[in-house]
Amino acid sequence: MIVTGAARGIGAGIARHMAGQRWRVACADIDGAGAEAIAGQTGGIAVQCDVAAETDVERLIAVARSRLGRIDAIVSNAGIAAFAPLQQTTLETWDRVLATNLTATFLLAKAAAADLKQARGAIVTIASTRAHMSEPDTLAYSASKGGVVALTHALAMTLAPDVRVNCISPGWIATEKHGPLKPGDHAQHPVGRVGRPDDIAAAVAFLLSEQAGFITGAEFIIDGGMTRKMIYT
Ligand SMILES: NC(=O)c1ccc[n+]([C@@H]2O[C@H](COP(=O)([O-])OP(=O)(O)OC[C@H]3O[C@@H](n4cnc5c(N)ncnc54)[C@H](O)[C@@H]3O)[C@@H](O)[C@H]2O)c1
Repeated sequence: MIVTGAARGIGAGIARHMAGQRWRVACADIDGAGAEAIAGQTGGIAVQCDVAAETDVERLIAVARSRLGRIDAIVSNAGIAAFAPLQQTTLETWDRVLATNLTATFLLAKAAAADLKQARGAIVTIASTRAHMSEPDTLAYSASKGGVVALTHALAMTLAPDVRVNCISPGWIATEKHGPLKPGDHAQHPVGRVGRPDDIAAAVAFLLSEQAGFITGAEFIIDGGMTRKMIYT
């Protein structure tokens, strides 16, 4: 299987979790050294690549096919956020966020479709609760993640019945890039805590398993209940 954005954060958590379930993981990331480190910890392989570049994605699929023997699952997780006010959001930034967060999943599915069909495999895309609700100045990121939710069901219909395609929309998942968490960060969540990479990884493992054989085109919001919390001040 392939996990993009596997060098750190949620992607590294997914790679570790899946390796623990005996999957062989190709850790793909633009950060080659980071991908090597996680591949070393998980017994997988590392592929340095930019998921927004078609030639890089085609090389990733070719390397994974030859080194792993087959491609039975892809977790399209790599993503970037570039929050900025409307007037300071350049077209270059907009294009880069859309290319990394949305176009990459299209490129991965296109390049790996034949392999995934042969393996009767599955794709999990990683969107965000920001596909459904927003703070100000999150324009490109929110748009890209809304696109991921829609691309997920379009791919599910396109690759059916051989390949299942589902989406996970995480809420706040604490990773290395977040500083120390405050008690209030946890307390505001209906479940009483901020999320962890393993919360997402466990759902990925389920969606890639045969137990999820009747699930395709779906979106799973994993956010400790935050998008269901009504707020009046
Ligand atoms: N952490 C959260 O709270 C949260 C919430 C909702 C959604 N998400 C989504 O989950 C995914 C992972 O988030 P994270 O918090 O672990 O992020 P992160 O920044 O910690 O890790 C992202 C990884 O993607 C890699 N990457 C970035 N651009 C790339 C490219 N062009 N090609 C290949 N690799 C690239 C980075 O090098 C990094 O290793 C992202 O899609 C993000 O939008 C995260």
